[in-house]
Amino acid sequence: MQSNPKNDSVQNVKNEILNKIKSKQLKIGVAGMGYVGLPLTMAFVQAGLPVCGFDNDAIKVKMLNESKSYIDYIPDQAIANLNETKLFSSTGDFSGFKDVDVILMCVPTPLTKNREPDMSYVVKTAEEISKQLRPGHVIVLESTTYPGTTAGLIKDILETTGYVEGRDFFLGYSPEREDPGNAHFKVTSTPKIVGADDPIGLEIIVAIYEQIVEKVVPVSSCATAEATKLTENIFRCVNIALINELKTIYDRMNIDIWEVVEAAKTKPFGYMPFYPGPGIGGHCIPIDPFYLTWKAREFGLSTRFIELAGEINHHMPVYVIQKLAEALDQKFSKGLRGSKILLSGLAYKKNVDDVRESPSLEILEILKTRGADVSFHDPFVPVIPKLHEFPTLDGMKSVDITPERLKTFDAILICTDHDQVDYSAYAKYAPIIVDTRNAMKAITAHEAKIVKA
Ligand SMILES: NC(=O)c1ccc[n+]([C@@H]2O[C@H](COP(=O)([O-])OP(=O)(O)OC[C@H]3O[C@@H](n4cnc5c(N)ncnc54)[C@H](O)[C@@H]3O)[C@@H](O)[C@H]2O)c1
Repeated sequence: MQSNPKNDSVQNVKNEILNKIKSKQLKIGVAGMGYVGLPLTMAFVQAGLPVCGFDNDAIKVKMLNESKSYIDYIPDQAIANLNETKLFSSTGDFSGFKDVDVILMCVPTPLTKNREPDMSYVVKTAEEISKQLRPGHVIVLESTTYPGTTAGLIKDILETTGYVEGRDFFLGYSPEREDPGNAHFKVTSTPKIVGADDPIGLEIIVAIYEQIVEKVVPVSSCATAEATKLTENIFRCVNIALINELKTIYDRMNIDIWEVVEAAKTKPFGYMPFYPGPGIGGHCIPIDPFYLTWKAREFGLSTRFIELAGEINHHMPVYVIQKLAEALDQKFSKGLRGSKILLSGLAYKKNVDDVRESPSLEILEILKTRGADVSFHDPFVPVIPKLHEFPTLDGMKSVDITPERLKTFDAILICTDHDQVDYSAYAKYAPIIVDTRNAMKAITAHEAKIVKA
């Protein structure tokens, strides 16, 4: 049988890449050195591969070069260790894309004001890559997005160069499953989904990720991998909404949702616990499901579960405030206006400093608008950063907790259950504690003061 020269040359490129992996010569580029890109970088360096981090935020690049971390749970020492290996560099100069073999795109994918996918960061990065694209390049998108982004939007931009995917360069999608602050699962111990539309590309990208993760799960296309990521986050969003709705119903029936979940989760099959809260936050769960909603519209379809879950979760801040108002009325015959409230926990989840989309921000703003005298305490968030959706909260500072100060509040509203907060002091000194996270579960004294919301 005669060999096809095109196939031979692709096989040669593949073998060259696999050899570079084996000899630890494969140069990795990470575009976007944030919550996803930095831990990914650390994992590749730890595996002995050279990594260059690219970011258009000059401050981040400077901090990395000075061995300083900008992510709360990554210590400065970890960046110093990265620099000491001599395998790591970082830059804002995207012409360096030509010097790396692989480019992993970890840039933001937020929603626009009209809640549509904001693909501007992905497009900009793909355009920068296309300026430096060369034969043998491997490009992988890690940002969460709608099915069709990699094989449509990105491929189209990269192919404006005249190079063709599968022949000249390889393209894939591998979603990030990073769970910031999770001590049990790291990048390396979480199975990694990899999708590509051409089999050789898939083989190469799987081999690359096998350098850093224990288990790689290949799927048949980029779109399947994109849909897998969205499915995981939609599953969370819908189940959190379900448990939030059940919370409001059981509350009326005087049944404690937390006790129900604890009991239900003893079933060894067919049930998985989700927990109620003051709403949903973070960069993923409130946003990603709507990427599918937007894409489904193109097919004349609606995503009713997602819309309903969004509606229920969005209502939670108002529900929680209503519970707080009822508690104040019952205890002091007074309303929110003029009441002195401490909001405990500003980050969207426990033990992290991330306030993106945190429901605490909305709660804080509503309380202010309704005339409450409100402060907040969060050991991870000393000051509220500039956020264009919440200009009235700009620069607000976390207050320290002392017995004297706690005694001055009419109520404490627990929105995030950070471990390092002294909840027994809340129970001892505050007259009302409205608890949206069951943070007071271990405190048996002063039970009458605690209202679950
Ligand atoms: N944070 C998470 O826990 C998490 C988990 C899974 C998936 N994701 C997804 O991963 C992607 C990245 O999220 P993140 O949390 O790391 O965001 P991030 O904001 O922490 O980091 C993104 C980085 O990209 C940089 N950047 C922006 N435009 C750039 C460009 N054109 N070139 C180079 N760098 C650029 C930013 O300066 C920033 O440092 C998003 O799609 C997100 O949905 C995030």
